[in-house]
Amino acid sequence: LASAQFDLSPIAEGSSVTVMWRGMPVFIRHRTQAEIEAARAVDVATLRDPESDADRVKEGHEQWLVMVANCTHLGCVPVGESGDYDGWFCPCHGSQFDTAGRIRRGPAPTNLVVPPYEFLTDTLIEIG
Ligand code: FES
Repeated sequence: LASAQFDLSPIAEGSSVTVMWRGMPVFIRHRTQAEIEAARAVDVATLRDPESDADRVKEGHEQWLVMVANCTHLGCVPVGESGDYDGWFCPCHGSQFDTAGRIRRGPAPTNLVVPPYEFLTDTLIEIG
């Protein structure tokens, strides 16, 4: 009922789409190898909301990042491929997120939220 399937095959490496799930925007990003490596190079202990990159993606599908597209501060939609961490920048109050969507600077208290989802095939996910 509340789940929805999305085809990843049109999303080129290095680009993102925004889909709607339960009335919320959700980012699906096809990460580059450099983005994955940057996310994995971070010392998790230094993070405000400590989560490893591996905890935020599906094993074997590390190139795909799926996150609710609302800033965890007050809900604005962050802008992708921007900010000091090459991830997302929230224009409302300046929160900055890295290439795993983790909060790195600014007022947002927690990382961008990864919704429940599964891979049905290598190019098809079901969110919810
Ligand atoms: Fe994003 Fe305030 S809503 S920083």
